[in-house]
Formats: sequence, structure tokens, C-alpha cells
Amino acid sequence: MTAGVSEIETQLVTDEFAEAVLNGLAQPRKSIPCRFLYDARGSELFEEITRLDEYYPTRTEIGLLKDHGAEVADRAGAGCAVVEFGSGSSRKTHILLEALTGASAYVPIDIDDAALTDAASRLRADFPRLDLHPVHADFSQDIRLPKEIEAAPKLGFFPGSTIGNFDLDDAVGFLSDAGDLLGPESDLLIGADLQKDRDILLPAYDDARGVTAEFTLNLLHRINRELDGNFDISRFAHKAIYNDDVGRIEIYIESLADQDVRVLGRMFHLKSGECIHVENSHKFTVPQFKALAQRAGWASEQVWIDDNDLFSMHYLTRS
Ligand code: SAH
Ligand code: AVI
Repeated sequence: MTAGVSEIETQLVTDEFAEAVLNGLAQPRKSIPCRFLYDARGSELFEEITRLDEYYPTRTEIGLLKDHGAEVADRAGAGCAVVEFGSGSSRKTHILLEALTGASAYVPIDIDDAALTDAASRLRADFPRLDLHPVHADFSQDIRLPKEIEAAPKLGFFPGSTIGNFDLDDAVGFLSDAGDLLGPESDLLIGADLQKDRDILLPAYDDARGVTAEFTLNLLHRINRELDGNFDISRFAHKAIYNDDVGRIEIYIESLADQDVRVLGRMFHLKSGECIHVENSHKFTVPQFKALAQRAGWASEQVWIDDNDLFSMHYLTRS
């Protein structure tokens, strides 16, 4: 029997996941790239995180979009095609599209097909006349934009401070590639979380209800399900620290015992207290973020910051 396109796609994703996990667990400092946190359950849990009291970034950025949407619209002009990297639920996009009024098309790009499909059906209901082209892809790989938006001016949208999940050099590489993808006349509206007191940062990544812990540990459930793993989740814990030297939150899965685990038939040993690194979340100052964008060929034309100095939203143009 011939495999259908979605079967081949699933196989490719699983192979990539398998390779990343087997390779990551074989390193002296174990790590698994953060993009694998987002299966369907991971996306649901991330949405739950965005509604936590402790997690200030989402509500703060939504406030900035509501307050400054008209200024964004003035800069973007009429008829632009909005291309969003890591669109998830597209909740913020509803606000942006309402502010822009004349957007010609929307291209949400996400690695999680379930989140993309759900978001697309909500957008179709709310914006029936919008030309919608969901792209299921890894935004750190080579991607192609749909032909239908070729002629339109592009507004890239990269909210959430997802840029902070890249290592700094990779963030420059990503922004530079995004510039090439969007084209020479494009603009980019991007969220960057600001440096702040660790008393605000740490609870945002280690909330009282344990939703962030569940989000992190869901990666082990995913390995068990998709890669025939045998992680006993009760013998692992979510751990978030703030690394002052680099200005970033680091998230780990900590082994609570000396133990062996099996993934796709291969055994790995974890000592008690040994950690698997699964995510970084960099925090920026405004000058730091402007300098990073500039290294990637973008100029920050305007920055909006909330009254509590929690979060920044930059309007970038090609420099
Ligand atoms: N833009 C939304 C969601 C941010 S969460 C917001 O601001 O609230 C990060 C999103 O990026 C998730 O939906 C996740 O599935 C997606 N994502 C993470 N790594 C990705 C990658 N390498 N390629 C494509 N999407 C990715
Ligand atoms: C998607 N990204 C910007 C989130 C962040 O804040 O770095 C992911 C996250 N991880 C744990 N909580 C939120």
C-alpha cells in the first residue's frame, strides 16, 4: 500500500524527533531541542500557561497590541500579507488583523498541525474574507511562502518572545533568514521579553498550579508514546533557573533517582540530579534587542513597552 502525504509527513517528523532524542540523550550534557515540546498536548498546555496569573508575557503583549494596533496599521499600510512564525492559537493575530483592517492574506506557520488546524478554523469563522494559507513547517528550516502572496507587501509577525527561545547567534540567523523569506520591502512586528527581577521571572516559569511543569514533562509522555520510551514520569521533575550571566531562564527535566531509561530500544543512564536541558528563554534590554536585530539586517523603527516595563514590541524594517 502506498503511504499518503500525511503518513509520510508524520514519519518525517517522528524520524527527526527520534534522531534529536537519541542524539540528545547520548551527550554528556543531555538536551532535547525545545521545538519538540509542541505536540497537540504541548500546545494545549502552552495555551493554559498563557492564562496563568504568573505568566505575564501574553497578557502584556496583548495589551500592547490593543493599545498600539492603530500605529502598527499606519506603518504597515494597506493590503499587506501577514506571515506569522510559531502562530499557535493565533489569539494575538485576531487583534492584529482587526487593527490592520486591510490585510490581504494571513500565513500562520507552526510545527504543531493540531494547533494550526484549530486556529485556522477559528480564523475562517471570524475573518471569512481573509485569504488564509496555513503552513505546517519547522520555521528554523528552509520554508517557502505560498505563491498566492508573492506580490503582496509582507508584514512578518513573531510575537510571544519566541525569539528568546533561540540561542543568540541562532536568533540572528533566524531573523536574517526571515528577512530573506519575507523580501527586501518587508517589515517585522516582533515581541521581546524584557529583563526583570527574578522574583517575577521564576514564578512565570514555575507556577504554583504546576502547569509549566506539566508542559515540560509532557515531552517525556511524547517520547514514551512516539518513540517506544519507558520514562516513569513520577521519577522526573521540572526545573527552572534564571541564569544571570546570560540573562535567560533555563528549563530542565531533572532525574529524581539513579535510573535507566529506554528509547527505541536504546538504554540511557541518568544519575540522580542529572538534568536534560529542554528550553532557554532569553530576556533582553531594548538596546540589546535592537543590536541583535541590526546584526540580522533589521532596524528597530519603533518600540512599545508597557507601563510596568515587562515586555517590548518592536516594529522592524529592513536596514
Ligand atoms: N505566537 C503564539 C504562540 C507562541 S508559543 C503566542 O505568541 O502566544 C510558540 C509557538 O511556536 C508554538 O505554537 C509552537 O508550536 C511553535 N513553534 C515552536 N518551535 C517551532 C519551530 N521550530 N517551527 C515552527 N513552529 C514552532
Ligand atoms: C513560546 N515561548 C516564548 C515561551 C517562553 O516564555 O519562553 C515558552 C514557555 N516555556 C515555558 N513557559 C513558556
